[in-house]
Order: sequence, then C-alpha cells, then structure tokens
Amino acid sequence: MNRYRIAPSILSADFARLGEEVRAVIDAGADWIHFDVMDNHYVPNLTVGPMVCQALRPHARTADGQRVPIDVHLMIQPVDALAGAFIDAGADLVSFHPDASTHVHRSIQAIKARGCQVGLVFNPATPLDVLDWVIDDLDLILIMSVNPGFGGQSFIDGALRKVEQARRRIDACGKDIRLEVDGGIKADNIRRVADAGADTFVAGSAIFGKPDYRAVIDQMRAALA
Ligand code: DX5
Ligand code: ZN
Repeated sequence: MNRYRIAPSILSADFARLGEEVRAVIDAGADWIHFDVMDNHYVPNLTVGPMVCQALRPHARTADGQRVPIDVHLMIQPVDALAGAFIDAGADLVSFHPDASTHVHRSIQAIKARGCQVGLVFNPATPLDVLDWVIDDLDLILIMSVNPGFGGQSFIDGALRKVEQARRRIDACGKDIRLEVDGGIKADNIRRVADAGADTFVAGSAIFGKPDYRAVIDQMRAALA
C-alpha cells in the first residue's frame, strides 16, 4: 500500500469559504487537512482557533463518508491549554514545537491521554536531540522546510539533511511514526523530499494557489510514483 500522504494546508485557502475549500481539496484527492494555528507570539502571524476546527470537522469527509484526518499544527506558546481545546474540536493529530513547551514530555502525554495522535515539529535551526528521549511516544515528526508563520515561502534545502536524520531515527526505533515536511513543497521538489525519507507532505500555496487542485495533487502523486 502507498504510504504517501498529501496534506493541503488551508492557510492558503479562501478563508471566506473554508468549508467549501476543505471539501473541494478532499474531492481533489487530499489525504489529510493540515490546519495551521498561529498566535502572534510564537510566530508573527495570527490565524484560527478551535472554533474554526470544530466548524470544519463535518466537512472533512470523503464523498462516501470516510473521515479525513485534521492535522493540527500548533505554532503557539504555551501549548497545553489549547492542545486540549483542539482535541475537543475534533483534531485527529496535534503537533507542537518542543521549544514552545516548557515540559515537552508532559505536553506529549497530555495529548496522548486524550486519545489523540501527537507530533513534534522542528524549525529549520532546531536540533532533533529531544527525540532521544521522546521518540517512542510520537505518532508523527514534522520537519519545517521554511520558518513557521507564513505560506508561500521558498523551500530551505538544508531541511533535506534533517529529514534524512529523522528517517534514520524512526527506522532505528522501529515504531510506525509518520515523517511529515512542511513549507515550500511543490510538484517539482516533492520527489526530493520523499527520497530524503519523508512520507507525508504539507502543501499550501502550491495547491490552493492554483485553480485546479486535482491537477496539482495528481502531479504530486505522479512525481512520487
Ligand atoms: C507555515 C505553515 C505551513 C504553510 C505552508 O508556517 O506551517 O503549513 O501553510 O505553506 P506553503 O506550502 O505555501 O509553503
Ligand atoms: Zn503547517
């Protein structure tokens, strides 16, 4: 079975028509919905909160009624209170930046205890060292290939080396952990990101910036095939 997942980021969708946009991108073949939460504190931008996640939850289904995971990427500090609010709002995965939590292990356990999948997110200059201590508890590792805060930035090539390192750590621990990459991913570089070891790909502007979502997602899948 194909392990690759494409997770369009609604950060680049039309915010005046979010439910429709989520349905359209699922109809176009999206596997997950990537939901970017920014607080104007951890990152210099402000987006959406749990109420919007809750409002979108019924729209995140395939035409035949299958649940499509909402992949919540928290770019907020502190982490814990809102992480729980997003789980209540129907998040399927909640990821946070370890440098945004004073007690990373506690934040991870709190998310898992609610029955939600949990991920850690690494900025371009953040080392992977914390994985020495918590990798066994994770469902997902997210490598940022841009600095968090905005859509439409250029892919930072140095991220590929970090993806390779994260892949080695996942393979060594033997657990089923997804390796996601976020920022600047397009049909013309997705293959390189997969070759470095990623299996899950966030793409915002590359998909929502184009009129035909299906055409872009098909191009990405063709590049991955
Ligand atoms: C950036 C966000 C990304 C963003 C990616 O801080 O975490 O998910 O939407 O956008 P693109 O794909 O346009 O780089
Ligand atoms: Zn993101």
